[in-house]
Amino acid sequence: MQAWKEYQTQNKDRFLDELLDLLRIPSVSADSKYKEDVARCADAVKEHMLKAGCDTAEVCPTAGHPIVYGEKIIDPALPTILVYGHYDVQPADPLNLWTSGPFEPVIKDGKIYARGACDDKGQMFMHIKALEVMAKTNSLPCNVKVMIEGEEEVGSSNLGKFLEDNKQKLKADVVLVSDTSMISMEHPSIESGLRGLAYMEVEVTGPNRDLHSGVYGGAVANPATILCQMIASMHDENNHITIPGFYDKVLELTEAERKAINNAPFDLTEYKDELGVQDTWGENGYTTLERTGIRPTLEVNGIWGGYTGEGAKTVLPSKANAKISMRLVPNQVSDEISDLFKAHFEAIAPKNVTVKVTAHHGGEPVVTPTDSPAYKAAAKAIQTTFGKEPIPTRGGGSIPIVALFERTLGLKTVLLGFGLDNDNIHSPNEKYDVFNYYKGIETIPYFHKYFAESFGK
Ligand code: BES
Ligand code: MN
Ligand code: MN
Repeated sequence: MQAWKEYQTQNKDRFLDELLDLLRIPSVSADSKYKEDVARCADAVKEHMLKAGCDTAEVCPTAGHPIVYGEKIIDPALPTILVYGHYDVQPADPLNLWTSGPFEPVIKDGKIYARGACDDKGQMFMHIKALEVMAKTNSLPCNVKVMIEGEEEVGSSNLGKFLEDNKQKLKADVVLVSDTSMISMEHPSIESGLRGLAYMEVEVTGPNRDLHSGVYGGAVANPATILCQMIASMHDENNHITIPGFYDKVLELTEAERKAINNAPFDLTEYKDELGVQDTWGENGYTTLERTGIRPTLEVNGIWGGYTGEGAKTVLPSKANAKISMRLVPNQVSDEISDLFKAHFEAIAPKNVTVKVTAHHGGEPVVTPTDSPAYKAAAKAIQTTFGKEPIPTRGGGSIPIVALFERTLGLKTVLLGFGLDNDNIHSPNEKYDVFNYYKGIETIPYFHKYFAESFGK
């Protein structure tokens, strides 16, 4: 579409400047210190929706951070696309590892460096700009509803209720999300699944107070040592998870499905070099792509206890703690896995300590169809702008709300992500290629066009 291309070319610089302004707002949802900034970011998103051509846009308060909702209905007879994204970001720490300020975006070597550049402000904003391109050139092929939340990074705890309360308003034919990654620009891909999540916190308590490690050490169980032993025992020699029942519901893939997953371009040497590791790790019998795509895992996200300050302090800590997450695959159920973990962790605790296990937020895994008209529209859109057919992949990350779109609204999702695995999301120096940003804005309107055409419109 010539008009789209022209409009995008003419407004390119502004599209980038507007994203940079959005990245300057530290909308960290996890830290209450940033509550005002999160609210300010929601307002900014709303203004952008209106500016892009939405008929209406509103900031909807929730028990947590607000949801921004806008829509442009051109003809009720046309299909409707519900765009979902999030304007909240992960905390920026550790700050000292950033080469420039996390909320002072800079462009280096064609990449935008800032917290949220890729996850998900950069990707979410592509949809608002794509909407602007279509609206301002009077060429919207579908109705568009846009829902951008502010709590994705803390588990979307208030979005489920919002879906329940607004079923009518959110009526659509498909959900479109850009919050995942591609293999590379040379090998465009579409994620056709996301893993679920069960997130636990554990506390191991030994003696009733911190002790002198010389006076008592060797005679009283050290909770830090016990915690490490307990965690270590949760993988066996094949790196299988030892929690009884953990794999019971795991859907095993057919040889053909596994072959398809392993057909995706992947260079193990490059992978290792890029991460600075001598070797990879994982469940025996599975490739790296399978380990991150179709197999469940258990990871320690944080572990602490005792003295961690400067210098040395001889102490036998009273308590040790860890945050442990498990990534889930079809047909595992988050609450069931949390219960299995809790029962197991309590069962393996030796008598010389007491343990406390609490569950944090979780989410269910999803697999999105690759034979639906929506997926085909996405594949065709990528074919149009990349000149290549996208490869379907399985993503390792989680977007818990996607399962709820299906359960609450009866809607399937298309994961049209433009990030790269090495964009450092959740890490210092998060980045997003300017090229990917523009490519996304260019590709999205084609999804709308081909999706409408699949309805005969
Ligand atoms: N955008 C990510 C999820 C993602 C990243 C999916 C890369 C596929 C590829 C999302 O913002 C995220 O970080 N989700 C969390 C879960 C959430 C409940 C905090 C995650 O995956 O850890
Ligand atoms: Mn995200
Ligand atoms: Mn994230």
